[in-house]
Amino acid sequence: MVRIDGAAVAAKVLVETKQRVDALRQRGIQPGLAVVLVGDDPASRAYVRSKDRKAAELGLHSVKEELPADTTQEQLLALVEKLNADPAVHGILVQSPPPPQIDEAAIVRAIDPSKDVDGFHPVNVAKLALEDPTGFVPCTPLGCIRLLQESGIETAGKNAVVVGRSMIVGKPMALLLMKRGPGGDATVTVAHSRTKNLAAVTRAADIVVAAIGRPHFLGADHIREGAVVIDVGINRIDDPSNPKGYRLVGDVDYDAVADRCAAITPVPGGVGPMTIAMLMSNCVTAAERLTA
Ligand code: GUN
Repeated sequence: MVRIDGAAVAAKVLVETKQRVDALRQRGIQPGLAVVLVGDDPASRAYVRSKDRKAAELGLHSVKEELPADTTQEQLLALVEKLNADPAVHGILVQSPPPPQIDEAAIVRAIDPSKDVDGFHPVNVAKLALEDPTGFVPCTPLGCIRLLQESGIETAGKNAVVVGRSMIVGKPMALLLMKRGPGGDATVTVAHSRTKNLAAVTRAADIVVAAIGRPHFLGADHIREGAVVIDVGINRIDDPSNPKGYRLVGDVDYDAVADRCAAITPVPGGVGPMTIAMLMSNCVTAAERLTA
């Protein structure tokens, strides 16, 4: 069994990204990333802090905008418009999920597609579906594909099952796996909460991507001998023995399935570090394109 080291692959992506940052700085350009958080969800706050910190480490111009939980749609739209117009900002990210009074789809549509480093804008979703490389691809699925490639795992002709159909992970992951070319060409099945006999579906998979958001949802029954498992889940579960009172577990019961897998990503230390690394890479891509 290979334990896929997401931190090591992320470090490699960040070294490449830093070289691209340096090349831009030689031209007098500093890539800028704006990260917007509305409200005080603890997990979102932690993600936003890591994104901001990583951007600063790489020498990006990093703008962290924290808005109160009662922010209105109009106030958030006004901030997005301001960031769209700011030439020092090349990438804009509004942390999901926002509070309930916010119409998230409308906010995403307001972001300039050329600054949409999350790849959530309809223009970028369409470009992914069209296999047009000029768009932006969501960071988490992009990171999963990179992990497979860096681990030497062939996807062409393989049966890949994506569990979860979210706009952030499941759907773009399925599109990437079926895309023509390296990291793609798989035979893709998307399973979700209405799928019948999930275990029979996932047991047919050479590659399982778990993106359901439920702790330890997939166990030994779901994974066949020799499968590759990419666990996207980051779930907080109560753990009184931990000083924080919780610990992070994936959507896959790692201990129950690790022995039977050819390769598996741990949680934490698998997909998580890749998401941030791909975000930095997307932001530098945005800066390269906007200043070409
Ligand atoms: N919430 C969970 N993952 C993501 C992500 O990749 N981008 C944003 N904006 N919000 C998220």
